[in-house]
Amino acid sequence: MIKILAFETSCDDTSVAFIDSNYKVYSNLISSQITHQDFGGVVPELASRMHMKNIMKLTQMAMNKAKVTFNDIDAIAVSVNPGLIGALLVGVSFAKSLAYSLNKPLIAVNHMLGHIYANKIRNPELDPPYLALVVSGGHTELVDFRAIDDFDIVGKTRDDAAGEAFDKVAKLLGLGYPGGPQIDSTAKGGDPHFVDFPRAMKQKDNFDFSFSGFKTAVRNYLLAHDIEFQRKHIADITASVQKAIVDSLVSKTINYAKKHGSKVIIVAGGVSANSLLRQEIKEQTRKLGIEVYFPPLEYCMDNAAMIGAAAVEKYERREFADLSLNAFSTKGVRFI
Ligand code: KG4
Ligand code: ZN
Repeated sequence: MIKILAFETSCDDTSVAFIDSNYKVYSNLISSQITHQDFGGVVPELASRMHMKNIMKLTQMAMNKAKVTFNDIDAIAVSVNPGLIGALLVGVSFAKSLAYSLNKPLIAVNHMLGHIYANKIRNPELDPPYLALVVSGGHTELVDFRAIDDFDIVGKTRDDAAGEAFDKVAKLLGLGYPGGPQIDSTAKGGDPHFVDFPRAMKQKDNFDFSFSGFKTAVRNYLLAHDIEFQRKHIADITASVQKAIVDSLVSKTINYAKKHGSKVIIVAGGVSANSLLRQEIKEQTRKLGIEVYFPPLEYCMDNAAMIGAAAVEKYERREFADLSLNAFSTKGVRFI
Protein backbone atom coordinates (compact mmCIF):
# COMPACT_ATOMS: atom_id res chain seq x y z
CA MET A 1 0.00 0.00 0.00
CA ILE A 2 1.29 3.46 -0.87
CA LYS A 3 0.44 6.83 0.65
CA ILE A 4 -0.01 10.04 -1.29
CA LEU A 5 0.02 13.69 -0.22
CA ALA A 6 -2.22 15.59 -2.67
CA PHE A 7 -2.78 19.26 -3.53
CA GLU A 8 -5.64 21.08 -5.25
CA THR A 9 -5.44 24.81 -6.00
CA SER A 10 -7.18 25.15 -9.37
CA CYS A 11 -9.76 27.76 -8.32
CA ASP A 12 -10.79 29.30 -5.00
CA ASP A 13 -10.35 26.34 -2.65
CA THR A 14 -6.94 25.47 -1.24
CA SER A 15 -7.02 21.79 -0.38
CA VAL A 16 -4.49 19.28 0.95
CA ALA A 17 -5.24 15.58 1.50
CA PHE A 18 -3.54 12.41 2.59
CA ILE A 19 -4.87 9.23 0.98
CA ASP A 20 -3.66 5.65 0.43
CA SER A 21 -3.82 3.33 -2.56
CA ASN A 22 -6.95 1.64 -1.15
CA TYR A 23 -8.64 5.05 -1.50
CA LYS A 24 -8.79 5.49 2.27
CA VAL A 25 -8.76 9.22 3.10
CA TYR A 26 -6.81 10.08 6.28
CA SER A 27 -7.34 13.83 5.93
CA ASN A 28 -8.86 16.17 3.36
CA LEU A 29 -8.70 19.79 4.45
CA ILE A 30 -10.29 22.55 2.40
CA SER A 31 -9.85 26.24 2.98
CA SER A 32 -12.61 28.00 1.03
CA GLN A 33 -11.82 31.59 0.16
CA ILE A 34 -14.76 33.68 1.31
CA THR A 35 -12.97 36.86 0.08
CA HIS A 36 -14.56 36.34 -3.34
CA GLN A 37 -18.14 36.59 -2.04
CA ASP A 38 -17.86 40.40 -1.99
CA PHE A 39 -17.26 40.29 -5.76
CA GLY A 40 -19.95 37.71 -6.66
CA GLY A 41 -17.34 35.48 -8.34
CA VAL A 42 -13.72 34.37 -8.13
CA VAL A 43 -11.04 37.07 -8.54
CA PRO A 44 -8.06 35.15 -9.99
CA GLU A 45 -5.23 37.18 -8.49
CA LEU A 46 -6.82 37.15 -5.03
CA ALA A 47 -7.25 33.38 -5.34
CA SER A 48 -3.51 32.89 -6.08
CA ARG A 49 -2.49 35.09 -3.17
CA MET A 50 -4.78 33.25 -0.76
CA HIS A 51 -3.41 29.86 -1.91
CA MET A 52 0.09 31.20 -1.30
CA LYS A 53 -0.89 32.30 2.18
CA ASN A 54 -2.70 29.07 3.14
CA ILE A 55 -0.85 26.20 1.56
CA MET A 56 1.97 25.63 4.06
CA LYS A 57 -0.25 25.83 7.13
CA LEU A 58 -2.89 23.61 5.53
CA THR A 59 -0.22 21.01 4.64
CA GLN A 60 0.93 20.88 8.25
CA MET A 61 -2.67 20.60 9.46
CA ALA A 62 -3.51 17.83 6.96
CA MET A 63 -0.44 15.84 8.01
CA ASN A 64 -1.20 16.32 11.70
CA LYS A 65 -4.78 15.20 11.19
CA ALA A 66 -3.56 12.11 9.31
CA LYS A 67 -0.95 11.55 12.06
CA VAL A 68 1.88 11.22 9.54
CA THR A 69 5.27 12.80 8.91
CA PHE A 70 7.08 13.53 5.64
CA ASN A 71 8.73 10.07 5.98
CA ASP A 72 5.36 8.39 5.46
CA ILE A 73 4.80 9.93 2.02
CA ASP A 74 5.37 7.71 -1.04
CA ALA A 75 4.33 10.27 -3.68
CA ILE A 76 3.06 13.82 -4.17
CA ALA A 77 0.09 14.56 -6.42
CA VAL A 78 -1.09 17.91 -7.74
CA SER A 79 -3.75 19.21 -10.13
CA VAL A 80 -2.13 20.85 -13.17
CA ASN A 81 -5.09 21.67 -15.45
CA PRO A 82 -7.67 22.99 -16.17
CA GLY A 83 -8.13 25.98 -13.90
CA LEU A 84 -6.91 29.48 -13.16
CA ILE A 85 -3.26 29.46 -14.18
CA GLY A 86 -1.99 31.64 -11.35
CA ALA A 87 -3.90 29.52 -8.83
CA LEU A 88 -2.68 26.21 -10.28
CA LEU A 89 0.92 27.45 -10.29
CA VAL A 90 0.88 27.86 -6.51
CA GLY A 91 -0.01 24.17 -5.99
CA VAL A 92 2.32 22.97 -8.74
CA SER A 93 5.32 25.00 -7.45
CA PHE A 94 4.69 23.89 -3.88
CA ALA A 95 4.31 20.21 -4.87
CA LYS A 96 7.47 20.37 -7.00
CA SER A 97 9.54 21.86 -4.17
CA LEU A 98 8.31 19.19 -1.80
CA ALA A 99 8.95 16.37 -4.30
CA TYR A 100 12.46 17.72 -4.89
CA SER A 101 13.37 18.19 -1.24
CA LEU A 102 11.91 14.84 -0.11
CA ASN A 103 13.10 13.03 -3.25
CA LYS A 104 9.64 11.54 -3.87
CA PRO A 105 7.82 11.00 -7.19
CA LEU A 106 5.56 13.76 -8.45
CA ILE A 107 2.22 12.93 -10.12
CA ALA A 108 0.36 15.41 -12.35
CA VAL A 109 -3.43 15.11 -12.29
CA ASN A 110 -6.12 16.56 -14.54
CA HIS A 111 -8.64 18.25 -12.24
CA MET A 112 -11.69 16.89 -14.11
CA LEU A 113 -10.30 13.35 -13.99
CA GLY A 114 -9.93 14.01 -10.25
CA HIS A 115 -13.67 14.75 -10.04
CA ILE A 116 -14.34 11.39 -11.73
CA TYR A 117 -12.05 9.54 -9.31
CA ALA A 118 -13.91 11.09 -6.35
CA ASN A 119 -16.37 8.26 -7.05
CA LYS A 120 -13.65 5.69 -6.20
CA ILE A 121 -13.40 6.92 -2.63
CA ARG A 122 -16.66 5.18 -1.76
CA ASN A 123 -16.51 2.60 -4.56
CA PRO A 124 -12.86 1.59 -5.12
CA GLU A 125 -13.94 -1.19 -7.51
CA LEU A 126 -15.69 1.27 -9.87
CA ASP A 127 -13.90 1.12 -13.24
CA PRO A 128 -14.96 1.82 -16.85
CA PRO A 129 -16.82 1.13 -19.02
CA TYR A 130 -19.18 3.87 -17.86
CA LEU A 131 -20.80 7.07 -19.05
CA ALA A 132 -19.68 10.09 -16.99
CA LEU A 133 -21.68 13.29 -16.62
CA VAL A 134 -19.06 15.83 -15.52
CA VAL A 135 -20.71 18.99 -14.21
CA SER A 136 -18.84 21.76 -12.44
CA GLY A 137 -18.46 25.53 -12.40
CA GLY A 138 -16.40 25.53 -15.62
CA HIS A 139 -17.38 22.26 -17.34
CA THR A 140 -20.38 20.33 -18.56
CA GLU A 141 -19.27 17.22 -20.41
CA LEU A 142 -20.73 13.85 -21.20
CA VAL A 143 -17.84 11.42 -21.50
CA ASP A 144 -18.13 7.83 -22.72
CA PHE A 145 -15.30 5.88 -21.10
CA ARG A 146 -14.32 2.50 -22.56
CA ALA A 147 -11.24 2.53 -20.32
CA ILE A 148 -9.88 5.30 -18.15
CA ASP A 149 -7.38 6.29 -20.89
CA ASP A 150 -9.73 5.53 -23.78
CA PHE A 151 -12.77 7.80 -23.96
CA ASP A 152 -14.84 10.10 -26.17
CA ILE A 153 -16.29 13.42 -25.11
CA VAL A 154 -19.72 12.86 -26.67
CA GLY A 155 -21.40 16.05 -25.49
CA LYS A 156 -20.40 19.38 -24.02
CA THR A 157 -21.79 22.80 -23.35
CA ARG A 158 -21.81 25.32 -26.17
CA ASP A 159 -21.77 28.28 -23.78
CA ASP A 160 -22.13 28.29 -19.98
CA ALA A 161 -21.39 25.32 -17.74
CA ALA A 162 -24.21 23.95 -15.55
CA GLY A 163 -22.59 25.25 -12.34
CA GLU A 164 -22.04 28.62 -14.01
CA ALA A 165 -25.77 28.72 -14.91
CA PHE A 166 -26.65 28.08 -11.25
CA ASP A 167 -24.15 30.76 -10.15
CA LYS A 168 -25.29 33.41 -12.66
CA VAL A 169 -29.01 32.92 -11.97
CA ALA A 170 -28.36 32.99 -8.21
CA LYS A 171 -26.62 36.33 -8.73
CA LEU A 172 -29.65 37.67 -10.66
CA LEU A 173 -31.84 36.57 -7.73
CA GLY A 174 -29.57 38.24 -5.19
CA LEU A 175 -28.54 34.91 -3.62
CA GLY A 176 -24.91 34.43 -2.56
CA TYR A 177 -21.92 32.82 -4.30
CA PRO A 178 -21.54 29.93 -5.13
CA GLY A 179 -25.12 29.87 -6.36
CA GLY A 180 -25.69 26.11 -6.76
CA PRO A 181 -25.95 25.24 -3.07
CA GLN A 182 -28.05 28.40 -2.46
CA ILE A 183 -30.55 27.50 -5.18
CA ASP A 184 -30.62 23.87 -4.03
CA SER A 185 -31.60 24.86 -0.48
CA THR A 186 -33.90 27.80 -1.42
CA ALA A 187 -35.82 25.54 -3.83
CA LYS A 188 -36.86 23.11 -1.08
CA GLY A 189 -40.67 23.08 -0.88
CA GLY A 190 -41.01 25.23 -4.03
CA ASP A 191 -43.11 24.32 -7.07
CA PRO A 192 -40.78 23.21 -9.92
CA HIS A 193 -43.57 23.83 -12.46
CA PHE A 194 -44.24 27.43 -11.33
CA VAL A 195 -42.30 28.85 -14.32
CA ASP A 196 -41.61 26.84 -17.48
CA PHE A 197 -38.08 28.04 -18.34
CA PRO A 198 -36.76 26.84 -21.74
CA ARG A 199 -34.73 23.63 -22.19
CA ALA A 200 -32.24 24.06 -25.04
CA MET A 201 -31.55 21.67 -27.91
CA LYS A 202 -34.16 19.07 -27.12
CA GLN A 203 -33.41 16.87 -30.15
CA LYS A 204 -32.93 13.26 -29.02
CA ASP A 205 -29.69 12.69 -30.96
CA ASN A 206 -27.92 15.87 -29.84
CA PHE A 207 -25.91 15.48 -26.67
CA ASP A 208 -24.55 19.02 -26.36
CA PHE A 209 -25.81 21.41 -23.71
CA SER A 210 -26.59 25.14 -23.76
CA PHE A 211 -27.61 27.39 -20.90
CA SER A 212 -27.26 30.93 -22.22
CA GLY A 213 -30.83 31.15 -23.62
CA PHE A 214 -32.16 29.82 -20.33
CA LYS A 215 -30.19 32.46 -18.42
CA THR A 216 -31.67 35.22 -20.62
CA ALA A 217 -35.17 33.78 -20.08
CA VAL A 218 -34.66 33.96 -16.30
CA ARG A 219 -33.40 37.55 -16.59
CA ASN A 220 -36.45 38.54 -18.68
CA TYR A 221 -38.80 36.81 -16.25
CA LEU A 222 -37.29 38.68 -13.32
CA LEU A 223 -37.52 42.00 -15.19
CA ALA A 224 -41.23 41.35 -15.74
CA HIS A 225 -41.96 40.60 -12.06
CA ASP A 226 -41.41 43.05 -9.22
CA ILE A 227 -39.20 42.39 -6.21
CA GLU A 228 -42.15 41.77 -3.89
CA PHE A 229 -43.45 39.01 -6.16
CA GLN A 230 -39.94 37.53 -6.50
CA ARG A 231 -39.49 37.47 -2.72
CA LYS A 232 -42.87 35.86 -2.17
CA HIS A 233 -42.18 33.16 -4.78
CA ILE A 234 -38.44 32.71 -4.30
CA ALA A 235 -38.83 28.97 -3.51
CA ASP A 236 -41.05 28.44 -6.60
CA ILE A 237 -38.72 30.43 -8.89
CA THR A 238 -35.54 28.67 -7.69
CA ALA A 239 -37.30 25.28 -7.87
CA SER A 240 -38.24 26.06 -11.51
CA VAL A 241 -34.68 27.19 -12.29
CA GLN A 242 -33.24 24.03 -10.77
CA LYS A 243 -35.75 21.84 -12.59
CA ALA A 244 -34.85 23.39 -15.97
CA ILE A 245 -31.09 22.88 -15.51
CA VAL A 246 -31.50 19.36 -14.12
CA ASP A 247 -33.96 18.35 -16.89
CA SER A 248 -31.40 19.30 -19.55
CA LEU A 249 -28.61 17.37 -17.81
CA VAL A 250 -30.70 14.27 -17.13
CA SER A 251 -32.46 14.05 -20.49
CA LYS A 252 -29.21 14.27 -22.50
CA THR A 253 -27.48 11.73 -20.27
CA ILE A 254 -30.36 9.25 -20.34
CA ASN A 255 -30.91 9.66 -24.10
CA TYR A 256 -27.25 8.89 -24.75
CA ALA A 257 -27.26 5.93 -22.36
CA LYS A 258 -30.37 4.48 -24.05
CA LYS A 259 -29.02 4.97 -27.56
CA HIS A 260 -25.58 3.54 -26.80
CA GLY A 261 -26.54 0.89 -24.23
CA SER A 262 -24.54 2.36 -21.30
CA LYS A 263 -24.95 0.08 -18.27
CA VAL A 264 -23.31 2.35 -15.70
CA ILE A 265 -23.55 6.13 -15.27
CA ILE A 266 -21.34 8.13 -12.94
CA VAL A 267 -21.82 11.79 -12.05
CA ALA A 268 -18.89 14.03 -11.05
CA GLY A 269 -18.06 17.68 -10.26
CA GLY A 270 -19.57 20.28 -7.92
CA VAL A 271 -23.07 20.10 -9.44
CA SER A 272 -23.20 16.36 -8.61
CA ALA A 273 -24.07 17.54 -5.08
CA ASN A 274 -27.43 18.83 -6.36
CA SER A 275 -30.30 17.04 -4.61
CA LEU A 276 -32.73 17.15 -7.55
CA LEU A 277 -30.09 15.92 -10.02
CA ARG A 278 -29.37 12.96 -7.72
CA GLN A 279 -33.06 12.18 -7.28
CA GLU A 280 -33.97 12.42 -10.98
CA ILE A 281 -31.01 10.42 -12.29
CA LYS A 282 -31.67 7.74 -9.68
CA GLU A 283 -35.35 7.52 -10.69
CA GLN A 284 -34.68 7.36 -14.42
CA THR A 285 -31.81 4.86 -14.20
CA ARG A 286 -33.80 2.59 -11.87
CA LYS A 287 -36.53 2.30 -14.53
CA LEU A 288 -33.93 1.38 -17.15
CA GLY A 289 -31.86 -0.98 -15.00
CA ILE A 290 -28.76 1.25 -15.28
CA GLU A 291 -26.39 1.47 -12.29
CA VAL A 292 -25.64 5.02 -11.11
CA TYR A 293 -22.88 6.42 -8.88
CA PHE A 294 -22.29 9.82 -7.24
CA PRO A 295 -19.32 10.89 -5.14
CA PRO A 296 -19.99 11.22 -1.39
CA LEU A 297 -21.25 14.79 -0.81
CA GLU A 298 -18.01 15.89 0.87
CA TYR A 299 -16.00 14.96 -2.27
CA CYS A 300 -18.29 16.62 -4.88
CA MET A 301 -16.80 20.12 -4.71
CA ASP A 302 -13.11 20.81 -5.30
CA ASN A 303 -10.92 18.83 -2.91
CA ALA A 304 -7.45 17.28 -2.84
CA ALA A 305 -8.60 13.76 -1.87
CA MET A 306 -9.97 13.29 -5.42
CA ILE A 307 -6.60 14.42 -6.85
CA GLY A 308 -4.85 11.83 -4.66
CA ALA A 309 -7.39 9.21 -5.75
CA ALA A 310 -6.65 9.90 -9.43
CA ALA A 311 -2.92 9.59 -8.70
CA VAL A 312 -3.12 6.02 -7.34
CA GLU A 313 -3.20 4.21 -10.70
CA LYS A 314 -0.64 6.62 -12.14
CA TYR A 315 1.70 5.62 -9.32
CA GLU A 316 1.07 1.95 -10.09
CA ARG A 317 1.97 2.61 -13.76
CA ARG A 318 4.98 4.72 -12.69
CA GLU A 319 3.61 7.73 -14.59
CA PHE A 320 5.66 10.38 -12.87
CA ALA A 321 6.14 14.02 -13.85
CA ASP A 322 9.58 15.55 -13.94
CA LEU A 323 10.51 18.75 -12.18
CA SER A 324 9.94 20.87 -15.28
CA LEU A 325 6.20 20.27 -14.75
CA ASN A 326 4.07 23.31 -15.55
CA ALA A 327 0.42 24.24 -15.05
CA PHE A 328 -1.75 24.72 -18.12
CA SER A 329 -5.31 25.78 -18.78
CA THR A 330 -6.63 23.43 -21.50
CA LYS A 331 -10.30 22.67 -20.84
CA GLY A 332 -11.89 19.29 -20.30
CA VAL A 333 -11.34 15.78 -19.08
CA ARG A 334 -7.88 14.62 -20.18
CA PHE A 335 -5.74 11.69 -19.29
CA ILE A 336 -2.68 13.53 -18.13
O1 KG4 B 1 -16.32 21.21 -9.12
P1 KG4 B 1 -16.47 22.51 -8.45
O2 KG4 B 1 -16.31 22.58 -6.95
O3 KG4 B 1 -15.48 23.57 -9.04
C1 KG4 B 1 -15.13 23.60 -10.38
O4 KG4 B 1 -14.28 22.76 -10.79
O5 KG4 B 1 -15.74 24.43 -11.08
O6 KG4 B 1 -17.90 23.07 -8.86
C2 KG4 B 1 -18.38 24.27 -8.39
C3 KG4 B 1 -19.77 24.46 -8.97
C4 KG4 B 1 -20.32 25.84 -8.67
O7 KG4 B 1 -20.81 26.39 -9.87
C5 KG4 B 1 -21.44 25.56 -7.68
O8 KG4 B 1 -22.51 26.49 -7.76
C6 KG4 B 1 -21.87 24.18 -8.11
O9 KG4 B 1 -20.67 23.51 -8.40
N1 KG4 B 1 -22.59 23.46 -7.03
C7 KG4 B 1 -23.89 23.13 -7.09
C8 KG4 B 1 -24.21 22.52 -5.84
N2 KG4 B 1 -23.09 22.51 -5.08
C9 KG4 B 1 -22.10 23.09 -5.83
N3 KG4 B 1 -24.79 23.29 -8.07
C10 KG4 B 1 -26.03 22.85 -7.83
N4 KG4 B 1 -26.43 22.29 -6.66
C11 KG4 B 1 -25.56 22.10 -5.65
N5 KG4 B 1 -25.97 21.54 -4.51
ZN1 ZN C 1 -13.73 21.28 -9.81
